[in-house]
Amino acid sequence: MFETLQKAPLDKIFALLGQYRADERPNKIDLGIGVYKDASGNTPIMSAVINAEKRILADQTTKSYVGVSGNRGFCDSITDLIFADTIDKSRITSVQAPGGTGSLWVIMQLINRANPGATVWVSDPSWPNHKPMLELAGLNPQFYPYFDQNTRSVKFDQMLAALDSMGPKDTVLLHACCHNPSGANLSNEQWDLVAQSLARTGAFPLLDLAYLGLGEGLEADAYGVRKIAQTCPEMMLGFSASKNFGLYRERAGVAIAIADKKPTADIVFSQMANVIRGSFSQSPDHGAEIVRIIMNDPTLRNEWETELEEMRLRVLTLRTNLANSLRKQSNSDEFDFIETHRGMFSLLGLSAEQVQRIKEEKAIYMIDDSRINIAGIPEHDTDQLAAAIVEVLR
Ligand SMILES: Cc1ncc(COP(=O)(O)O)c(C=O)c1O
Repeated sequence: MFETLQKAPLDKIFALLGQYRADERPNKIDLGIGVYKDASGNTPIMSAVINAEKRILADQTTKSYVGVSGNRGFCDSITDLIFADTIDKSRITSVQAPGGTGSLWVIMQLINRANPGATVWVSDPSWPNHKPMLELAGLNPQFYPYFDQNTRSVKFDQMLAALDSMGPKDTVLLHACCHNPSGANLSNEQWDLVAQSLARTGAFPLLDLAYLGLGEGLEADAYGVRKIAQTCPEMMLGFSASKNFGLYRERAGVAIAIADKKPTADIVFSQMANVIRGSFSQSPDHGAEIVRIIMNDPTLRNEWETELEEMRLRVLTLRTNLANSLRKQSNSDEFDFIETHRGMFSLLGLSAEQVQRIKEEKAIYMIDDSRINIAGIPEHDTDQLAAAIVEVLR
């Protein structure tokens, strides 16, 4: 049977990580994979997470099945964190899924059940996994204009014109905050206009929320999501706890749907549970239970929020340092956008050949569209990095 198969392409981010690990040059820098790193280059386990794990070890009495829809305390506390009291809770429903990717997967299956082969509009550019996931789910990915390579900011007029031309059969996938890969985000006023456009056209909003708290802070980062929830009758959202709880390998995520009324929300819940049962049956509980414990204990929650804020501020400092160093070494303001962008990433604007050169000549690894993970910048080698970037550009 296998003779009918051809080799599938490697995910470019994980392929790059493999190359980086195999590189023996001592001064190598990994700006590829999107994980948070501390000053010593480690991706630490947050102390609130360690403390919650100790409680699990002491208190957990069984490893029996949790249930198809997952850890309810986890789903409910994440729903509260995202929406607070902005909308009627009875319209919201949720299931646990393996990470943000798993949540998006469940959502895409549900969209395909409701509207088979539907067109889902994705920002140009977007997280590289959106398109293949949509295709695998039987949906039709299309791109709406988003990032202006010249101004390094959102082409908002073009984006809005594209949204205004959509209809009720379209779904629009939006990065709720910390746009990946561009780092360029919508302002609150722009979110208001996007929400109004979606409400007017009836296009269905799908939000991808993988970096809550890592842009402007927990409350500010939820602005767009809450605005859409308050303005549009229906929406869905895939949440990931990978980055903001540092739980990458534990695969903790939530698929959330908001319906116009509770009976519809109940139907959506049953369909999402049915998708899960028919694919992977249940989600891993460990990461979800960690988050549930943290969110329901005021001391641990405070500890987590403090650590998350430290991470966010560190990324901002790294942005400022790199922008300053590039300003000095290039004698221009062309990289100032790095300081104003938010979240883990920015697109540097290097060609694929320049990205290849900086990897071969300087052992600096970035995705071929020149996306860099800001948290991967080694604090003490910022000038070395800036010099290499300026050198390959000349
Ligand atoms: C925009 C976006 N969505 C979803 C995800 C998925 O995260 P997870 O590792 O939780 O599946 C990521 C991870 O990089 C992401 O950047």
